[in-house]
Amino acid sequence: MTARKIIIDTDPGQDDAVAILLALSADQLDVLGITTVAGNVPLRLTSKNARVVCELAGRPDVPVFAGCDGPMERKLVTAEHVHGKTGLDGADLPDPKMPLQDQHGVDFIIQTLRDHPPGTVTLCPLGPLTNIATAMTRAPDIIPRIQEIVLMGGAYFEVGNYTPAAEFNIYVDPEAADIVFKSGIPLTAMPLDVTHKALTTPSRIKAFRDIGTPVGQTVAGWIDFFDRFDMEKYGSEGAPLHDPCVIAYLLQPDLFQGRHVNVQIETSSDLTLGMTVADWWRVTDCAPNAMFMGDVDADGFFDLLTRQIAKL
Ligand code: BDR
Ligand code: CA
Repeated sequence: MTARKIIIDTDPGQDDAVAILLALSADQLDVLGITTVAGNVPLRLTSKNARVVCELAGRPDVPVFAGCDGPMERKLVTAEHVHGKTGLDGADLPDPKMPLQDQHGVDFIIQTLRDHPPGTVTLCPLGPLTNIATAMTRAPDIIPRIQEIVLMGGAYFEVGNYTPAAEFNIYVDPEAADIVFKSGIPLTAMPLDVTHKALTTPSRIKAFRDIGTPVGQTVAGWIDFFDRFDMEKYGSEGAPLHDPCVIAYLLQPDLFQGRHVNVQIETSSDLTLGMTVADWWRVTDCAPNAMFMGDVDADGFFDLLTRQIAKL
């Protein structure tokens, strides 16, 4: 079996961190690099956090590249109210020793896609789509070389988590999302419709803690932290674990169900800016451009996650 080559584009964030750990735990995946973007917290912190996570996983060899420090056309909005001041509140981890690479994250994405045969590198965006859209705009020749984009972002039936209409990642940089969704690349989206079914119940958190390793304890600590905020917000018995759904899909796609439909991004309305308008019932003639997921086998997802985290 040859491992599937991926680039993780991320704004860690506790759930991003768990997604990175999941990817690094899996023999089926070859993480060519991690590019960071401003999102949950500013770029300086997401670039630090990505390296903290690589070191926690015992993988200081994974190159981390800082990408864009703000959206393509708008002012950055962040989410410290969810993720804490550092973006990784909930566990006490040492500052990273591994260096940040000199190359810009966008240049790394462009170069990697040009250096590999077409159709062999998958992009996994876990934050605002600024780096991916900037790479596509600057170097359109890379677009047909992308194998697939599997991203966390958007919401339809579950509506918004940052505004009444928009999910955070898409809201932060709607122009970037618009470019990516119009790119014609095979696209799989994990919207809130899925992630709000992947809830970190007390027994699922206990399963991470019971692994008994530093990584297991850290994951439990991170989840405990944002659980406090999300459980109050949603009134559910646990918080959604968004970003690991992307990596879980690469490892076990049969955990997820969705529809191949047309999805468009609202970029002009003040009221619904960043909304992912999904033609779920196929009421238009607009061509499908995304596999928009709607359901997950939550027990299967947490079993996979716990099993993999125990390997680190
Ligand atoms: C998304 O926004 C961030 O807060 C999370 O890391 C996730 O990527 C959920 O809306
Ligand atoms: Ca994220």
